[in-house]
Amino acid sequence: MAGRLQNKIVCVTGAAQGIGAGIAEAMAKEGARIIIGDVNDDGANALAAQIGATAFHLDVASPEDWQKLADHIGAQFGQLDILVNNAGLELVKPMREHSLADWRGIMAVNVDGIFLGCKTLEPLLCKAGKSGSSASVINISSIAGLVGYPDQLAYNTSKGAVRHMSKSLAIEWAAHGDAIRCNSIHPGCIRTPMLEMAVEGWVENGSIPADDPWTAIAALCPLNRVGTPEDIAMGAIYLGSDESRFVTGIELVIDGGWVAR
Ligand SMILES: NC(=O)c1ccc[n+]([C@@H]2O[C@H](COP(=O)([O-])OP(=O)(O)OC[C@H]3O[C@@H](n4cnc5c(N)ncnc54)[C@H](O)[C@@H]3O)[C@@H](O)[C@H]2O)c1
Repeated sequence: MAGRLQNKIVCVTGAAQGIGAGIAEAMAKEGARIIIGDVNDDGANALAAQIGATAFHLDVASPEDWQKLADHIGAQFGQLDILVNNAGLELVKPMREHSLADWRGIMAVNVDGIFLGCKTLEPLLCKAGKSGSSASVINISSIAGLVGYPDQLAYNTSKGAVRHMSKSLAIEWAAHGDAIRCNSIHPGCIRTPMLEMAVEGWVENGSIPADDPWTAIAALCPLNRVGTPEDIAMGAIYLGSDESRFVTGIELVIDGGWVAR
């Protein structure tokens, strides 16, 4: 039986681990041909071998790396059906301890990285759009892009920018008649290496108890659990597939009800 993403060409950034790896793996199971772009070459190569994908060295903050990736995808496939801008960095400390370099480092990856990806790969996405169904860009924001949280100002601000960039691009591509849809996904607490690092920071600053932080985090979630990368992948498959052909500019919140209260 054909998968929901059969033969679609998909690029997932930051897919060497965590949410990106979950999305790449789940999309591959749905028949997609995956290109993993990550700075972590060993992790990307290991996952690529496991799921039959291609790994490509990509620092999302580097325009040159994006151009090399575009050339590779153009030569290999001639088009790109789905771009998942997932690579991101987190920083947990109060604003008074953010240096300008900290701020710019987060913006370079979380915001510039998505701008560069959309801009550089736009011609390949347009080609996929012209070939029948629409191309799909999925930008991974966060619930921190919807509501405020203490001690992660640069991160929260970057994720708010991702939400707005997604809506603006959705409208711009529609206005220009380009068949490219663009949506953001807003994960809640998803157990990955990034969240494990953030949890250490929350324990240190006393916002969650040190003895059993994961139970404490689950208890804050209406569905009473911490999410998994697969929970996010299910939403990404929908937004990437033709099932969502009339969906653009939305913010898909996948958080176990966290921001619904
Ligand atoms: N885990 C969560 O609870 C959570 C919640 C909300 C949003 N998110 C977002 O989901 C995305 C993935 O998060 P995660 O938890 O899987 O993180 P993670 O740290 O576990 O994985 C991030 C991946 O991005 C890669 N990466 C980092 N900088 C890069 C760069 N400059 N270029 C290319 N790749 C780079 C890393 O090598 C890694 O493979 C991020 O955008 C994050 O902000 C995560």
